[in-house]
Amino acid sequence: MRVLSGIQPTGNLHLGNYLGAIRNWVKMQDAMDADSQCFFFLADMHSITVHEEPAQRRANVRDMAAALIAAGIDPDRSVLFNQARVPAHAELCWLLNGTARIGWLNRMTQFKDKAGKNREGVSIGLYVYPVLQAADVLLYQATHVPVGEDQKQHLELTRDIAIKFNTDFGVELFTLPDPIIPKETARIMSLRDGSAKMSKSDPSDLSRINLADDDDTIAAKIRKAKTDPEPLPETAAGLEGRTEATNLVGIYAAMTGLTPDAVCAQFAGQGFGAFKPALADALIAHLAPIRSRYIALREDDAALDAILVKGSEKAAEAAAPTLKGAYEAMGLMR
Ligand code: TYM
Repeated sequence: MRVLSGIQPTGNLHLGNYLGAIRNWVKMQDAMDADSQCFFFLADMHSITVHEEPAQRRANVRDMAAALIAAGIDPDRSVLFNQARVPAHAELCWLLNGTARIGWLNRMTQFKDKAGKNREGVSIGLYVYPVLQAADVLLYQATHVPVGEDQKQHLELTRDIAIKFNTDFGVELFTLPDPIIPKETARIMSLRDGSAKMSKSDPSDLSRINLADDDDTIAAKIRKAKTDPEPLPETAAGLEGRTEATNLVGIYAAMTGLTPDAVCAQFAGQGFGAFKPALADALIAHLAPIRSRYIALREDDAALDAILVKGSEKAAEAAAPTLKGAYEAMGLMR
């Protein structure tokens, strides 16, 4: 088993990233046997698709590395690195640009969402983004890719690119990866709008819980979270159509290990005035230790850089045979 996943180092690690992806990364790392390997990386090469000041970009990479380690990624057991230190990603992306079809990229909903109405004015990188993501996965022969629901389409494209490359060049070079998407927390929604996903790019910080938020901030954000005036139902089926309520119950369930049905049974008939303080307490209990580890790790840039350099060396070594195979399959002489 080869596990691989990435995260863009733009802004804070938030509860959506954590429950949708990172918590699964940690679970898979902890369940690893001797034949398995985990690769987790900061997608800094993806982050250039949106403009950022260079100093901010460097800080973001270190912030995200610290957040991942604080959340449980152990650089001694998993290969933790940043993409820019492993040029094979950019190289394979270019090779795969010969295979990926414009029609496939035109169907990517995340591009449509991110580009909005300004299609002509966004960077080419934003459009080609999913091809770099395919390169990330295929370079390492990843079998399992733990992600949130929003990355499912990119993983399907990755498989299409792999199949077409293998067929066109008559090789069995690329392994087809399977997305691993959590059932209950595949899509954590904004605290301000139950129809939008929780996201780093939402201009309102009240829309998300950041893993670095202090206890008072978490409590205030939950107090201000949008809800409806109805009490909690007896079972989760009664949450149908109540998007904000469903989201908050789902978060409480994820924090406590209860099922959404058990959460409803516990609070049945009570309003959100009673539920919200319990939710805030559960979040604080879970996140406070992560935050304190994060703050300590963030003190030492040199130590974080050393971890990423070491991880990048291991990643480059693991990626080299596949990259070589791709050049050779295409008849490119080096
Ligand atoms: P990114 O940085 O947007 O998000 C990182 C991970 O968090 C998940 N996620 C969510 N899950 C549930 N609810 C939410 N509200 C939520 N918001 C984010 C994402 O699904 C993702 O798993 N393109 C990727 C990064 C990437 C990648 C890769 C992932 C680059 N190369 C190769 C896997 C394999 C991205 O922008 O994720």
